[in-house]
Amino acid sequence: MRDPEDDRQALDLLIRGFQVSRTIRLVADLGIADRIAPDGAAPVAALANVCNVRPQQLMRVMRVLASFDVFLIDADGTIAHTPRSLLLRSDAPGSLHHAARFWTRPGSWRAWEALDAALHGANPHQVAWGTSRFAYLRDHPQEARIFDAFMAAFPDDRHAAVAACYDFSSARMIVDVGGGNGETLRRILARYPQAQGIVFDREDVVAAITDDARAEGRITTHGGSFLDTVPGGGDLYILCRVLHDWPDDQAVNILSACRAAMDMNARLLVVEGLLDPDPSRGEQLEYLLDMQMMAMFGTARERTFVEFNELLGAAGFAPATVIATPSSVSILEATPRA
Ligand SMILES: C[S@@+](CC[C@H](N)C(=O)[O-])C[C@H]1O[C@@H](n2cnc3c(N)ncnc32)[C@H](O)[C@@H]1O
Repeated sequence: MRDPEDDRQALDLLIRGFQVSRTIRLVADLGIADRIAPDGAAPVAALANVCNVRPQQLMRVMRVLASFDVFLIDADGTIAHTPRSLLLRSDAPGSLHHAARFWTRPGSWRAWEALDAALHGANPHQVAWGTSRFAYLRDHPQEARIFDAFMAAFPDDRHAAVAACYDFSSARMIVDVGGGNGETLRRILARYPQAQGIVFDREDVVAAITDDARAEGRITTHGGSFLDTVPGGGDLYILCRVLHDWPDDQAVNILSACRAAMDMNARLLVVEGLLDPDPSRGEQLEYLLDMQMMAMFGTARERTFVEFNELLGAAGFAPATVIATPSSVSILEATPRA
């Protein structure tokens, strides 16, 4: 029989989840996991010294995390890794280092504080900061680069999944619209030597893409707004985790800008999580992402397959076919409607 005390404790931990999340960010910002070799150990005093923080306070931080099986701490205050803390190393496959640094950063954190506003039709981020999410990132470059790194290393590993699950062998010029720091294109071009690519994103985002991230010149960048126009000349266009940032009318504008740039033989890949309307079947992380969209953008949201097809239809595309991936995203392949 289910013990009501277990439920009470489980709910209490959920209620206090922000305390855990904020504490994990603290050690991720200090790079503690990278400072302990995967099979090594380090005294907390030495870690505090190298991080230039107080040992007693760091000890308290490490202790609470150890109670969640993130790091191991012995009676002398020596810290070693657990399978969970290893995932905070920046070199771990599927690393959560960038995720840990991102979720409770001020831009996102303060918008969540204003979440109630969404229930009355307002945009919590706008209420909290007096500006839109992307304008905030433009004005806070340090936080914007942490966002870009988080996108490139998002725990859903969507970039690798897209490169592995779609056949790009006939693509010559791929335009990644809202392509962030170019991780999707880098993954695709590494597998398909015939292809070249354009990362199209906001001016400040593409300006931060370094030369060595351009696949030896096969990736070029183009700054601008997909609400106005999208570069022509591609035979394949990608919108990866872009539409979920926008309400329906602006999502249709973005798709229409892609449609206007495409000739009849070009294809569009919309890469998104497909929300299951039934939470007993769906993924908790997708519903949490839906809440993140609510906090950052108000009416922007995760969508079902049917809802994506409605947007595509409104922008002049034929109904999409779906290609599932082992990641939480699916690929919706759409062609212009004749
Ligand atoms: C959720 S991120 C996804 C990034 C990338 N596609 C990926 O999957 O990692 C959304 C991207 O849209 C870009 N973006 C937002 N507004 C834009 C605009 N008006 N024009 C072009 N890109 C924009 C952001 O800078 C960001 O890189």
